[in-house]
Amino acid sequence: MHLYGTQTVDEKGHLTIGGVEVTEIVSQYGTPVMVYDTELFKERASGFKETFEKKGMKAQVAYASKAFSSIAIYQLAEQQGLSLDVVSGGELYTAVAAGFPRERIHFHGNNKSREEITYAFEEQIGCIVIDNFLEIDIIKEIASERKQKMNVLIRVTPGVEAHTHDYITTGQEDSKFGFDLKNGQTDQAFNALLDHEFVNFLGMHCHIGSQIFETDAFKFAAEVLMEKMMEWRTVHQFICPVLNLGGGFGIRYTEEDHPLEPAVYVEEMAEVVKSMAGEYEYPVPEIWIEPGRSLVGDAGTTIYSAGSTKEVPGIRTYVAVDGGMSDNIRPALYDAHYSSAIANRMNEPHDQQWTVAGKCCESGDKLIEEAFLPRVETGDLLAVFCTGAYTYSMASNYNRLPRPAVVFAEKGQHQLVVRRETYEDIIKLDLPLHQQAKEISQ
Ligand SMILES: Cc1ncc(COP(=O)(O)O)c(C=O)c1O
Repeated sequence: MHLYGTQTVDEKGHLTIGGVEVTEIVSQYGTPVMVYDTELFKERASGFKETFEKKGMKAQVAYASKAFSSIAIYQLAEQQGLSLDVVSGGELYTAVAAGFPRERIHFHGNNKSREEITYAFEEQIGCIVIDNFLEIDIIKEIASERKQKMNVLIRVTPGVEAHTHDYITTGQEDSKFGFDLKNGQTDQAFNALLDHEFVNFLGMHCHIGSQIFETDAFKFAAEVLMEKMMEWRTVHQFICPVLNLGGGFGIRYTEEDHPLEPAVYVEEMAEVVKSMAGEYEYPVPEIWIEPGRSLVGDAGTTIYSAGSTKEVPGIRTYVAVDGGMSDNIRPALYDAHYSSAIANRMNEPHDQQWTVAGKCCESGDKLIEEAFLPRVETGDLLAVFCTGAYTYSMASNYNRLPRPAVVFAEKGQHQLVVRRETYEDIIKLDLPLHQQAKEISQ
């Protein structure tokens, strides 16, 4: 059985995370509960930062917070010296509430509204990553009206096909994101921004996909963007001070996944930039990266309680848990695979095949199609590993299920960072039918 980060199995056969028994977390906060190993988050953050430091390269490591957005994780990212990638007014608002340094916030998104862009100006954030021509117009207008400078990057699609699931690949030419590099859109965007009094053009951004295991695609993307930067130097005498190479570094969800150490991806990309800059005597740009999954993915584990079981003779045996697609949509959405264990009986052989089902009214609400577990008893604690990214942030109240609690665990201490939703929370936006409408229908 593969354990992640600080996870251990103690003498009672219980899973521990951050030095805390999962059973203790459950007795305090109930289930389902998401437990983050914050030491693993810190280790990854410093691994990325040190990779650039060792190479003597200036860099910003921005946590792509769509992976898991909350005040506490933003504060942890801040403490680790990370920057922050936000993609909506809501994520920006969370960052502001967390007291995140505004100059280290980068704002992404393919359809930012005028209100969201104005909010970014009001908060004087560090950079807007422009995605389309409408946004160029809006930013120029707002910057001129407010007479306020704004740093910008443009997001480009370098046409690199990363080998990953189609739905989570965003770097291909047929993408809803960014300006195409090959058909001239990128040059058009560059020309539209270059000489604006209040717009400070920093360079290009690309994000070629997610859960990528090989370094070639990243290196190729870096090369393609560096070539464009050299062209702009020749044609416009313009030097880009920044190159943002996005995120997408793969992690191990199951034994089928064989990622490299996250910092290795960065090491190799940075090397391409450094050596090309040396070869062409181009000033080495500051590199920005945006890891999401590789910072929080395997740091997170969801603990469920096992409920009913059902045997379909000769086919499969189901065990249903007290959550499901409402707290983790990824298996239903992307056919994502996870590994699991019985957290209160870790030492028993995990050799029986089960299908872990959620409790939502959807046949497709299965968390794990083929899970190897001991004989599961009602009340057992089922740990699903590697659930830290794109789960809570995509969670819904489908079937009006309250969203789980989120807990940070480290060095034997634990802290609630998102409380469990209550039934009151679930109806808090609902308004009753008007009296008049009631009378009409009677
Ligand atoms: C622009 C951008 N940057 C960074 C990320 C983070 O990717 P990952 O979580 O795979 O590292 C994403 C994810 O979709 C993204 O769209």
